[in-house]
Amino acid sequence: MNKPFIQIDSLVKRYGATVAVDGVSLSMDEGHITAIIGASGCGKSTFLRCVNLLENPTSGSLRIGDDTLAYTNSTLSSGEERALSYRKSMAMVFQSFELFPHMSVLRNVALAPAIVNGVPLDQAIEQAHALLDRVGLHGKANEYPGQLSGGQSQRVAIARALAMSPRVLLFDEATSALDPELVGEVLEVIGELADEGRTMIVVTHELEFAKDVADTLVFFDQGRVVETGKPHEMIDNPQSERLGNFLKRYQRIRTRA
Ligand SMILES: Nc1ncnc2c1ncn2[C@@H]1O[C@H](COP(=O)(O)OP(=O)(O)O)[C@@H](O)[C@H]1O
Ligand SMILES: [Mg+2]
Repeated sequence: MNKPFIQIDSLVKRYGATVAVDGVSLSMDEGHITAIIGASGCGKSTFLRCVNLLENPTSGSLRIGDDTLAYTNSTLSSGEERALSYRKSMAMVFQSFELFPHMSVLRNVALAPAIVNGVPLDQAIEQAHALLDRVGLHGKANEYPGQLSGGQSQRVAIARALAMSPRVLLFDEATSALDPELVGEVLEVIGELADEGRTMIVVTHELEFAKDVADTLVFFDQGRVVETGKPHEMIDNPQSERLGNFLKRYQRIRTRA
């Protein structure tokens, strides 16, 4: 059997006495999409931030392709020589966009490939224009983030993530900060990336979207994976009481909105 493209084993992240991620394991194949759901504070963001090495995992191991990293006592205990290649295989899109406000849209997208990946500037700029076209932002290259709507800003952030040519895309509630009428335009772009066969881990509160695009759904509760499976099966027929209660609360909030 082929080994999965991504394999995370027993990932733990502690903040003092708080165990934000409590032994999470997850594996997935290339081209697959895993959606993560769960109540606020259950560790979804911390998990993604550890996977992306924005946070040092307390312990556990992480592998993408052939790059394996192991952590013990919040220290990289093996895989030092692989850390850069591991880190470069991922790009993340955040709830709050995290664009540079003092830079044009074009520079926001072209800068990191030029500086971090050493892509020649003219090439990085050409690529940035193409990516902006692709996320439906043709003509916005010379505007500044402050001039954009939230939906446009998030599409710039997606273009910026794509500019790094990542092997894996991570989304942390990419639509949660948006006005409801702007959610669709961002989900549409993410859906197109899914259709292209991109490997993605998507933390989301959009259950219908998760049902549509994800191959696997993972339900987090208190830093742990409580249930995982096919999205429609889990949503239509939850096995655990905790997922059942989460879905009931979700339905109540949705019908009220
Ligand atoms: N930098 C931090 N320092 C201390 N505690 C944190 C930090 N980041 C997250 N936590 C705690 O970890 C838990 C999980 O948070 P988080 O990953 O943000 O959850 P979610 O994204 O599911 O809402 C929460 O109890 C939160 O307060
Ligand atoms: Mg979060």
